Amino acid sequence: MRIIQDENYAALSCRTAEIILAAVREKPDCVLGLATGSTPIGAYDCLAEAYREGRATFRHVRTVNLDEYAGLGADDPQSYRYFMEKHLFSRINVQRENTHIPNGLAENPALECRRYDALCEALGGIDLQLLGIGKNGHIGFNEPARALDVHTHTVTLAESTRLANSRNFKSLDDVPRSALTLGMGGIMRAKRILLLASGEQKREALQKAVSGKVDPEVPASFLQLHPDVTVICDFDLNCAEL
Ligand code: GLP
Repeated sequence: MRIIQDENYAALSCRTAEIILAAVREKPDCVLGLATGSTPIGAYDCLAEAYREGRATFRHVRTVNLDEYAGLGADDPQSYRYFMEKHLFSRINVQRENTHIPNGLAENPALECRRYDALCEALGGIDLQLLGIGKNGHIGFNEPARALDVHTHTVTLAESTRLANSRNFKSLDDVPRSALTLGMGGIMRAKRILLLASGEQKREALQKAVSGKVDPEVPASFLQLHPDVTVICDFDLNCAEL
């Protein structure tokens, strides 16, 4: 693992965007694994700016998002499809048909999960996967558990995750209880991974992820087994082992 501790959120965002832009320049039709949450918003702003300034084109890029809330559709401002449109897709020239997010309204979620795994495979796998980290160590919506799922699956959200994410909803009751998420296999098969963490409240989770035991109760700790992970944080990680 390569660990970069940046000065602040702006630097983290800019560095993240530059890494993504370099990947797109090197392989114009690369497959980007994208994440939602507050953490990547700054990087998405930098990508939009690069496009606006004519420094980048996303015409041939394909994207696959990590997860989506069950029961929320593209028109719902709380859905991750809506989030991606707002923060990135509507601001760059990615082709809509090349953007993929699990369908939270699928009548048969199990089938939708299988479709999503098949799609990732058909795209040739993820070249660069962007990840945030939950305070409980989750990645995507792979929540701490006694065992982790390999494939895309429906997950019951941890109450701590619902509480953390309730800041974007009118009330805690409005936060969906389940979501569809890429499994650990889908994430670990990405050729390269960028794990972002912003704010001191993520320090403990990140410390466990990078230097704790590989433990399904800290899903991000499995990233220690991946051959090409870059961690970018904007605080002093303060890990004795590093
Ligand atoms: C959410 C998302 C994750 C995200 C994480 C952290 O629940 N499913 O993909 O990385 O929680 O979110 P934030 O960046 O807002 O702290």
